[in-house]
Amino acid sequence: MTLEILTTVNQLKTYTKTMRARGKTIGFVPTMGALHEGHFTLARTALKENDACITSIFVNPKQFAPHEDFDRYPRMVEQDAAALNQIGVGAVFAPSVEIMYPPGFQTTVSVSEISKPLEGEFRPHFFTGVATVVARLLLLVMADRAYFGEKDFQQLQVIRHMVNDLAIPTEICGVGIVRNADGLALSSRNAYLSAQEKQIAIQLNKILANMALELRNHTASPALANPDLPNLPDLITTIESRAQDQLIKIGFDKIDYCTIRDINNLCPPTGPMTQNRLETLRILAAAWLGKTRLIDNMGVS
Ligand code: PAF
Repeated sequence: MTLEILTTVNQLKTYTKTMRARGKTIGFVPTMGALHEGHFTLARTALKENDACITSIFVNPKQFAPHEDFDRYPRMVEQDAAALNQIGVGAVFAPSVEIMYPPGFQTTVSVSEISKPLEGEFRPHFFTGVATVVARLLLLVMADRAYFGEKDFQQLQVIRHMVNDLAIPTEICGVGIVRNADGLALSSRNAYLSAQEKQIAIQLNKILANMALELRNHTASPALANPDLPNLPDLITTIESRAQDQLIKIGFDKIDYCTIRDINNLCPPTGPMTQNRLETLRILAAAWLGKTRLIDNMGVS
């Protein structure tokens, strides 16, 4: 079957109605296009777990601040659609801005607490834009399951909260980060990096892996622990500042954050450092190479 390109809400609704009438389950993969193996993994997972997959391609103006890269964000819908067709995706929803946000559109979805730290601090407009577009997309598609990459870990948590709070009847599925052979997390924005910047970028995940190792070592062998660092906040501050120094030393221009957080609220963890606590921690970073902002994250246990 060849992939259908749907550009209007009516076309989308007809497609999903037909699928449901045939008793087919639908997996949905929202994207902004410029697709890479990370997106294809989401689509393949959706196809494995559902009878059909719909992917949306929409560069959402509401999640970019005026000074950000909305205009230069790569757009290649035909190429993306051809690649999705190869994988077996049934339909691409590629609406215009006017279809997504018709004249008179005035609703904003904002998920207050979990949106505040990290990305929320540096890109205050971002999660409101994401939550608004994802809520509208989820309600238009009404898929059984929707798939999001863990690379945008905070985004995934924001969307989980929103779907739970609003009782949107779609299961949200997180899919692990896809990395290239050097360990660089795949991102459409990697296309902005020069060859020299790429060499620096590939160090980011290694530094995060080292932070995880330090935390694990601390719990596995208390003898290794510095007696001056008896609790989690102190240990974390030490590990974070060492990692931030390393990032600057290897050539990153600016660090927005490189930090260890509690996965439930993305706030700094408190309490004693125990083996069980490791499972509740996530290391997250956002750092600049020239005009390109990279994000990455990693579990600890
Ligand atoms: O992760 C993305 O590509 C976007 O933030 C999303 C979820 C498609 C919303 O525009």
